[in-house]
Amino acid sequence: YKRITVKTLVDMKANGDKISMLTAYDYTMAKIVDGAGVDVILVGDSASNVMAGHETTLPITLDQMIYHAAGVVRAIERSLVVVDLPFGSYQSDPKEALRSAIRIMKESGGHAVKLEGGKEVKESIKRILNAGIPVMGHLGLTPQSIYKFGTYTVRAKEEEEAHKLKEDALMLERIGCFAIVLEKIPAKLAQEVAESISIPVIGIGAGNGVDGQVLVLHDMLGMTHEFHPRFLRRYMNLYEDMTNSISQYVKDVKAVDFPNDEEQY
Ligand code: KIV
Ligand code: NA
Repeated sequence: YKRITVKTLVDMKANGDKISMLTAYDYTMAKIVDGAGVDVILVGDSASNVMAGHETTLPITLDQMIYHAAGVVRAIERSLVVVDLPFGSYQSDPKEALRSAIRIMKESGGHAVKLEGGKEVKESIKRILNAGIPVMGHLGLTPQSIYKFGTYTVRAKEEEEAHKLKEDALMLERIGCFAIVLEKIPAKLAQEVAESISIPVIGIGAGNGVDGQVLVLHDMLGMTHEFHPRFLRRYMNLYEDMTNSISQYVKDVKAVDFPNDEEQY
């Protein structure tokens, strides 16, 4: 698959090819992620945590999301860039949702938007889709509703919530979303949802019965280290490697070892 489009992703599901997705929030990291062959780059509102140090995703603004997304878009040659609509930019009414999505498309150059929720945000999603902007849904653990949930534990373990989630997924497909993220729900439920619709289901903490996987880049690289959910596979321990490199630099400076004769003019 050369340049990835929303159409490519639906074809990938039909062909049984799994979709890889990672977050990125800046030019330099996005260049590496795109070059490594990741299909979808998500400019997640997890930037609120990872980039800005907030405890939740709620504080990040639309302007800040656009700043992150614009840097990512400048870096990519192949990946599809999906940008999260931040909390407060789409919940009040469908017109506001469309205005926010238009700002993301015009000002960042992203290729699609993602927003959290099912039937509560149906009219907003329809508005955005009517303007020709592709929408990715997000169900299960939706971090913008953390104050309603009270915890970040697994969602939809009870029948009532599982039923609503299945209905919401069908609805998102019916109105025209090109894909759905399922976050932190039982693997069996996620697989059922993936098998019930023809648009791709990308999981995070949703097992391997889905059509693709997403992780937060800084978590999978091991740059963050105070966060150990079961679903997180760490491919590196960059926290340790970076700490060692940086403390070595400090030692070298103090010892007047750096710069050496070859490192000066
Ligand atoms: O913001 C984010 O990083 C996300 C993913 C975890 C799906 O929404
Ligand atoms: Na998000």
